[in-house]
Amino acid sequence: MEPFPLILESVKDLSKVQIRSVFKLARSFKKGDFTQIQAVNSFQRPIVATFFQEPSTRTKNSFAIAAKKLNADHVDLVPKDSSLQKGEDLEQTFLTLKYQGVNLLICRSPQERMIENIDMPKMAYINGGDGKNQHPTQALLDVFTMLEKGLDLSKSTIAIVGDIVHSRVAHSLIDLIPLFGGKIILCGPKEWIPQEDLGPNIEKTESLDEAILKSDVLYPLRIQKERHLKKESNHSEFQNLYKISLKKLKILKRSPLVFHAGPFNIGVEIDKDILQSPIFQAYEQIENSVYLRMSLIQMMLESLKQS
Ligand code: CP
Repeated sequence: MEPFPLILESVKDLSKVQIRSVFKLARSFKKGDFTQIQAVNSFQRPIVATFFQEPSTRTKNSFAIAAKKLNADHVDLVPKDSSLQKGEDLEQTFLTLKYQGVNLLICRSPQERMIENIDMPKMAYINGGDGKNQHPTQALLDVFTMLEKGLDLSKSTIAIVGDIVHSRVAHSLIDLIPLFGGKIILCGPKEWIPQEDLGPNIEKTESLDEAILKSDVLYPLRIQKERHLKKESNHSEFQNLYKISLKKLKILKRSPLVFHAGPFNIGVEIDKDILQSPIFQAYEQIENSVYLRMSLIQMMLESLKQS
């Protein structure tokens, strides 16, 4: 197999074979097989750093927990408390982390492709979400969970509903699901559906009923207000047309699995009754996020050691 990449900016940085090996290791961690985790003393522990310029509950914390479960140390550099505030640039910030001994850096930024103009020091790097561009580890844990649920993606249709153009999760899923043969329906108000042709596996519709009737999985998105350049959304109109509720599914006689990356804006894109229903998978996505991120950390640290 080709060496595991040291930079994970996009799901496109991984081949299907590499993704399958990430899933395999994540599955073994989930089963409680920790034979691949080294016992190391405090001087030998790898260091995983997080650097998040946007809020996060799930991603940052699950990376921190995953690192600890792997006997790695975790440090969190909070951007607003860093010397960036004194005019230092990102390149020098990352170089400082490298010389402090950081082996793997995970960043979230409102800026798309934040490392594009940076001469990255020799350490591994994971994109924890960059603007509306990509959120590769979210899409990977989503597909991992879909496969775990027994879905054959080559025979499945996933409807992504809502504010698609501003969603980095949607953009990563659009790249990843077709790699496994899956079809995607993009559903939402016209201004939130990408206009460009995204290939034969991607359909578009403004009708939620059509999306629900054609899909095996519903994936509602939070309205990404923080990335809107102008006031784009009338919430009450959006929730009347696109909110996913058990009542709606019952009328259409459908019970698809419902995935959500979180955070949930209950009553806007999703009704509370869905969160309490067995079709709702988001808590399992959160549980799986730790195993999936453990697997990625392990594989990237190993690749760094061998590089
Ligand atoms: N899914 C996700 O990225 O959630 P957080 O913003 O809480 O990390």
